[in-house]
Amino acid sequence: MNENPIGIFDSGIGGLTVLKEIIERLPSEDTVYLGDSARVPYGTKSSDTVVRYSLEIADYLIREHNVKLIVIACNTASAYALEALSKHLTIPVIGVIEPGSRMALRETRGYNIGVIGTEGTIKSGAYARAIEALDKDAKITSTACPLLVPIAEEGLEDTDIARLAIKGYLGEMLAANPVDTLLLGCTHYPILKDTIAEVIGKDIVLVDSAKATSIGVYDILLEMGLMNTSEETGEHRYLVTDSPDRFHSIGRRFMDNADISAELVEIER
Ligand code: DGL
Repeated sequence: MNENPIGIFDSGIGGLTVLKEIIERLPSEDTVYLGDSARVPYGTKSSDTVVRYSLEIADYLIREHNVKLIVIACNTASAYALEALSKHLTIPVIGVIEPGSRMALRETRGYNIGVIGTEGTIKSGAYARAIEALDKDAKITSTACPLLVPIAEEGLEDTDIARLAIKGYLGEMLAANPVDTLLLGCTHYPILKDTIAEVIGKDIVLVDSAKATSIGVYDILLEMGLMNTSEETGEHRYLVTDSPDRFHSIGRRFMDNADISAELVEIER
């Protein structure tokens, strides 16, 4: 049994969709979630900057909280920084890209997969690379949908603003290439899942990287003998680098209204 917590980080609130899935799948694990709200968004930043932020956060979580595993619960940080973190850290690290890609390949019937995410995630080509490495026959089309992040944070997921934005981003892509599976490659998109399905039709399978990642976390803990086998319910700590109040009020909706009171922390630069 290993009682050290799992360290999970994101640029801010979005990674709570990943945390929620991890807590559901692994209820006995303790977790420490760090939202880098002082430096959000990551989706528009350069690779070098996102790698630097990610290394700082991972070092902080290991140094201050002795975490046993790092989960990069941010698609942009996973796309840019997984390799650097894997080389730098002596504990296991998992991002959301590979688990999401595996699940998309399990779900697809026609090997025609669409990927949506932030500007950085799409520009990095990380999902396309991961899917192609797993199966050369898959055809991948991708597009960035930057407005969907603020729409989810403002609680506008079930409004005409959301429907228009989704239609605007996906209409052309789907007309040019009618994918059978759409990978939601951004932390915020699970919040918009129902509206995306309503706009693009129920025939397209939506794959959620958050859910897929929780399965990956389970597998790593099991394989490495790091699972907490206690019968007790795990404890969850929330840390932010800015605005704990905003994190609490907006983040609650991402966590089924759980109490996510966060501590303000400073990460040594
Ligand atoms: N968490 C980011 C992601 O999944 C979205 C928000 C941001 O741009 O920082 O890519």
